Amino acid sequence: MNKHFSIFTLFSCIFFIITVNARRECIARKVPNADTVCVCNATYCDDLPALQRPQPGFATVFESNKQGLRFRQTALKFDSMASQSTADQSVTITINRTQRYQSVLGFGAAFTDSTGQMLKSVNQSLADLLIESYFSANGIEYSMGRIPIGGTDFSDRPYSYDDTDDDLELKHWALQREDTEWKIPFIKQALKVSPHKLRLFGSPWSPPAWMKTNHRFNESGYLRGDVGGQYYQSWANYFVKFLDAYKSHDIPVWGLTVENEPVEGQQPHYGFNCLNFTGPTERDFVKLNLGPTLAKAGYTPDKLKLMVFDDNANFLADFVKPILTDKEAAKYVSGIAYHWYGNNPMSGFPDPFLTEVHNTYPNVFLLNTEACHLDGAALGRWDHGEKYAYDIIRALNNYVSGWLEWNMALDMNAGPRWTGGGFGGTLNIDPAKGEAYKQPSFYTIGHFSKFVSPDSIRVGHSVDKSVANLSVVTIQRPDKQLVLVALNAGDTDIELDIRESGHRLRYKIAAHSVQSYIW
Ligand SMILES: *[C@@H]1O[C@H](CO)[C@@H](O)[C@H](O)[C@H]1NC(C)=O
Ligand SMILES: *[C@@H]1O[C@H](CO)[C@@H](O)[C@H](O)[C@H]1NC(C)=O
Ligand SMILES: *[C@@H]1O[C@H](CO)[C@@H](O)[C@H](O)[C@H]1NC(C)=O
Ligand SMILES: *[C@@H]1O[C@H](CO)[C@@H](O)[C@H](O)[C@H]1NC(C)=O
Ligand SMILES: *[C@@H]1O[C@H](CO)[C@@H](O)[C@H](O)[C@H]1NC(C)=O
Ligand SMILES: *[C@@H]1O[C@H](CO)[C@@H](O)[C@H](O)[C@H]1NC(C)=O
Repeated sequence: MNKHFSIFTLFSCIFFIITVNARRECIARKVPNADTVCVCNATYCDDLPALQRPQPGFATVFESNKQGLRFRQTALKFDSMASQSTADQSVTITINRTQRYQSVLGFGAAFTDSTGQMLKSVNQSLADLLIESYFSANGIEYSMGRIPIGGTDFSDRPYSYDDTDDDLELKHWALQREDTEWKIPFIKQALKVSPHKLRLFGSPWSPPAWMKTNHRFNESGYLRGDVGGQYYQSWANYFVKFLDAYKSHDIPVWGLTVENEPVEGQQPHYGFNCLNFTGPTERDFVKLNLGPTLAKAGYTPDKLKLMVFDDNANFLADFVKPILTDKEAAKYVSGIAYHWYGNNPMSGFPDPFLTEVHNTYPNVFLLNTEACHLDGAALGRWDHGEKYAYDIIRALNNYVSGWLEWNMALDMNAGPRWTGGGFGGTLNIDPAKGEAYKQPSFYTIGHFSKFVSPDSIRVGHSVDKSVANLSVVTIQRPDKQLVLVALNAGDTDIELDIRESGHRLRYKIAAHSVQSYIW
């Protein structure tokens, strides 16, 4: 009797909160042969209001799943025996907050040219809602952003900031329309609506073609002349021009990666903007040109985080070794950036690998700076979102400090992309309909970005048995609230029995669900 009464009052309570808070729910649309997307337009976009601290003795759980729940919120009472679970198996998770690991930098995605071009292609009210969905306290609170330095494959033309031949002094260097119309306005809006101090970092794809041995943006060119020579120096000066130019637009840049996918850039037939650096040439560029040039311009490591590598994890160990074992190069380096390609749930790459990297180089952070699915727009795929959640949990449990997706907005063909073709993103826009579609992966990333605020610390937990397809990470936020994110990527329900400081929460995680608990 008592139990039913308390559950009843609990539900009335939730109902009351929802009615006063007027949260905008997902308007779901089924995608043929897939799951659902959530539809936004110029007057409506689902949201997730700022988190309220649960009442003493309670936790709040938010859940999303393959069936279409999106951040469904439920209050759970600690130590109530209210588990009415019919799950086949139960797992006990014991949290120990005194076991403290790496701190979190944040979560986010990239302000690519294609993203800005798409946001600009719709009514500004819709673009505003989408930026708020990503960055505001009413959305999933992204706290990081990657800014391509010049063009990438996700631009509608190949270009650089100085396409005047042999302009080693960079006299003709200038930001382009892509910056002033497609990137800067949306970055400024993100800065404005974010409740956090955004960590923004730049990444170049290709230098001007004239700086390269092959005189092309794509294929396998490297910088002309000797390592350390005039082309290398001009390329280092180019980074400073970028930082200064964005600063003049009131955009503080927190970090840089030296080069996007330098190893990929060694493929002779590589189709898009790239630059070939090997571990030793990147080391010498950082040591002889980029590091000293940044420092001289005031961008010292305490003010600007320089990250090396920025490529697929399977090349990481060999590439970073010459850089990070060289004291004169390593003194400029704060982090290792890597991409999920080659290390994602589909690749079978060894699991503790990133912990080994952390143990070898404990003074640099690890950051996943790019991820996307490579099979086109692929609308409504819950399994894609699930794979991201799996990768984020695994990364956090292996000393990684943050995780960024790739394009924030794309068209219905996963572009625009000057090379043709396209890759998946968390949000697609149909300008003709004036609609945007939030993919399942928008929500599965949000299960981390909304809850694990920047500067949180991962804390220890143990499980009494390992269950296939269940992954868990535990984090303490700067405001001391605890967050547990769980993914059940399997086909059966699991009962979680969560224990912390002598208290106990029991709740079911259904098949193909992600949950974020906070208390
Ligand atoms: C925008 O979406 C809302 C919610 O689905 C709907 O009521 C409204 O009619 C839509 N507006 C347009 C112009 O389609
Ligand atoms: C929590 O972890 C600390 C540090 O490893 C350890 O000393 C302590 O015994 C643990 N507490 C429990 C309850 O296991
Ligand atoms: C954009 O959408 C808003 C809300 O529906 C509408 O008031 C406004 O007229 C639209 N603007 C344009 C340029 O279509
Ligand atoms: C990549 O750069 C290195 C060193 O600059 C060079 O030796 C190598 O031949 C280049 N690779 C390709 C495929 O061009
Ligand atoms: C490289 O880009 C040029 C256009 O600038 C294009 O003609 C060529 O096909 C591209 N190379 C590859 C391998 O795609
Ligand atoms: C894990 O999940 C996959 C995909 O749903 C499923 O095929 C597999 O049977 C699951 N494994 C277990 C042990 O539940």
